[in-house]
Amino acid sequence: MSSLCCRHAFAYDGGVSSLVLQIAAEVIAKSSRDNPADSGLREALKSRRLPTPEQQREISRAVFNYFRWFGWLDAAHPLSGQIKHAIELAQAFKERPESFSDDKLVERLVPDWVREQMEISPAWARAIQAEPKLWLRARRGQGAALCEKLGAAKLEKALLPDAVHYKGEEDLFRRPEFHAGEFEIQDIASQAVGWLCAPQPGETWWDACAGEGGKTLHLSALMENKGLIWASDRAEWRLKNLKRRAARAQVFNFRAAPWDGGVKPPTKTKFDGILVDAPCSGVGTWGRNPHARWTTTLQDVTELGAVQLQLLNHVAGALQPGGKLIYSVCTLTRAETVAVAENFSRAHPELQWLALPENICGGLSTAAPRTIWPQDCGGNGMFVAAWRRP
Ligand SMILES: C[S@@+](CC[C@H](N)C(=O)[O-])C[C@H]1O[C@@H](n2cnc3c(N)ncnc32)[C@H](O)[C@@H]1O
Repeated sequence: MSSLCCRHAFAYDGGVSSLVLQIAAEVIAKSSRDNPADSGLREALKSRRLPTPEQQREISRAVFNYFRWFGWLDAAHPLSGQIKHAIELAQAFKERPESFSDDKLVERLVPDWVREQMEISPAWARAIQAEPKLWLRARRGQGAALCEKLGAAKLEKALLPDAVHYKGEEDLFRRPEFHAGEFEIQDIASQAVGWLCAPQPGETWWDACAGEGGKTLHLSALMENKGLIWASDRAEWRLKNLKRRAARAQVFNFRAAPWDGGVKPPTKTKFDGILVDAPCSGVGTWGRNPHARWTTTLQDVTELGAVQLQLLNHVAGALQPGGKLIYSVCTLTRAETVAVAENFSRAHPELQWLALPENICGGLSTAAPRTIWPQDCGGNGMFVAAWRRP
């Protein structure tokens, strides 16, 4: 690492300051499966008193572009040279995407094992090589007003009613509208899951893998704060954050309860709806989180598929007649998505495949599972399947 340190920290070098290159190189060199680049980056930026917001953005872009364009880089070159090359590739792709051939994009995009698990289309490749978009979910019906207040924001009504694409560079966590619960930062594909669940006011739902509540809050908004949502997760610290977020969003119709994913649900209640937003390999987020392309393994994917199937099996008994079960994962591998849904369906002939609502991120109604691709609406990739207990 010491060879990367720079005595002329503010010298300028090929459009990127050497300070930016130095910090980006340090983050990249320390990144590993156990130390993902995004958390390393947060730590690095927190622990230094230097960078201006603009420099911080440049460092983030340098790190993410390195992993996004990793398949194009020559490991024999010094790391700082590789980072500069990655930044140039990203710029060239932004300005002249047609100068990158489909064949090369598909060939260099991800490790080979991924090809066994999904079709690597040019459209997906182009979508995940582009700079990811930042999505907000506005309070219901308030999208246009929010865009006016924030500026540099566009309501993408044709995709989803409250989805706002934020194009500005402000720290949104400092905005008064954020503290007033007027919006959540939520990827558009995650917002789509809430709409595909289509919960009704007054119903009783179980958000079984609620995490920090991204989808719980959306379900509550769609239920107009009426009815009840049991929000469970095995990580109690996540549920604590969920409660904090719920207070800010003025969400009151929920009960947080730990659940370890075992056969015993957190309550004897039978539900109108159950959402299993299951732990997954996150292949659908590889545009936003390119480091994970190079650290995720086939073994992760198969193990997580087994966990997802088990979670579905464990919640199925809590569905009341007429109730619906939604399985969502932000991944695109067969072992986690289609294989899990089909295995679950075979094991539960008492449940029927359920048609999903239309016009969600441009998709039509389908009684089969639905894959939302990054190229469909400019967000993460997501797989959703649904069943009903007759
Ligand atoms: C995809 S994340 C959920 C994200 C969340 N629904 C949201 O929208 O913000 C999956 C969650 O499943 C939880 N989890 C993982 N394994 C679990 C298990 N065996 N039982 C219950 N929850 C589990 C994780 O703690 C994580 O919060």
